[in-house]
Amino acid sequence: MARTRPPALHLDAELDRQYRGDRAADPRTLATLVAGRVRRTGRHHLGSPLLDALGDLQDRLGDGDVHLDAFLTAVLGRHRNRFCNQTYLALPLVELVRVDLGVDPQTMSALLVADVVRHEREVTGALDARTRAVRIRHALRFVAAAAPGVDVAHEPGGWFALTALPVSTEHDEYFFIRVLQAHEMVFTTMTDLLRAATAALRADDVPAATAHLARAAVVLDQAALLFRLVATVRPAAFHSFRRYTEGASAIQSESYKRFEIACGTPSPPRLAGEAFAHVPVVRAEVPHLDDFSAAWREVGADGADGAALATAVTALERGHRRWKGTHHSLAASMLGDAPGSGYTEGVPYLRRWLDERLFSAPGGGAGAA
Ligand code: HEM
Repeated sequence: MARTRPPALHLDAELDRQYRGDRAADPRTLATLVAGRVRRTGRHHLGSPLLDALGDLQDRLGDGDVHLDAFLTAVLGRHRNRFCNQTYLALPLVELVRVDLGVDPQTMSALLVADVVRHEREVTGALDARTRAVRIRHALRFVAAAAPGVDVAHEPGGWFALTALPVSTEHDEYFFIRVLQAHEMVFTTMTDLLRAATAALRADDVPAATAHLARAAVVLDQAALLFRLVATVRPAAFHSFRRYTEGASAIQSESYKRFEIACGTPSPPRLAGEAFAHVPVVRAEVPHLDDFSAAWREVGADGADGAALATAVTALERGHRRWKGTHHSLAASMLGDAPGSGYTEGVPYLRRWLDERLFSAPGGGAGAA
């Protein structure tokens, strides 16, 4: 797989240097060597001696270097029995890189998908020409929609390349990881917009609240382009790398659940069920959090401004229902009767929540969809 050039330094030698506390040893050099090994074997097949050595090193270094610590936490996810959505997608490292680059989550989503374009262009012979062209086309469309200023030819540098850590050597896993990471950024963007809409409503600025909601609906629609991209995954490749991803599922996505609770308090069965059991930190935030539906109920919004707000809520609710429908169809076609990697029964779990609403309207009913 991959674009990583054979490193001039040797991983074992670099680990030795780190152990000796050699000042010349650089965290990013070590991580680049480890990532090179990951690309050649897949994270799942890193040998125990290397994993033990990296584990010892992480324990010794503590959080002395936050990037290396986040990198090692991802690489060692399975080894330390902490394999989950966060470690599979190296999300804490992605977040550090986003801050390093000084970009907002929306731009970061575009940078992650631009990397798919570079990867597919640079690795030749892995895909048939048609799949490759379709994948690149959908990736380019997302980048153009999400952040038109992003130059797809430009690799951001720093730790960016070290945030893609496939568990297998399947070519398709690389783009799959990037798309899931991009989706995380999309959810973060939408959460920010919902919180801004809530604050605007509390400040009696209904038009601003409406504008934030309308923007969230656009961002969610752009995420539909990501599903088109995911649909180019070849089933055999998907099932091959999925053997090693058990325990990591987007049901553990904190950013998705934060988006949900920024819209409104989920229904009691949803909050008490497996959807939120996988995100205890987010579930604990619910009682202390303001949300859009609560603000709408308490502040109200009348007249033309109120009607425009209700229309924007409906558009977002419908967009989310479409998003769930597309996700459900994709999962049904890829999984059939197989259980989910997050230990739910799979597609029936998704079907159960298809009609769950994000918002509750001021009258006490559900937001229209
Ligand atoms: C072939 C691709 C995919 C399949 C087969 C699939 C399948 C599933 C399944 C079976 C679940 C239920 C939880 C579990 O047991 O894992 C789930 C949950 C979820 N998936 Fe996917 N998924 C796919 C792609 C995606 C993508 C690209 C995203 C975008 C982020 C995504 C986002 C989610 C979210 C947010 C949940 C949690 C839903 C909830 O809690 O109600 N999935 N997925």
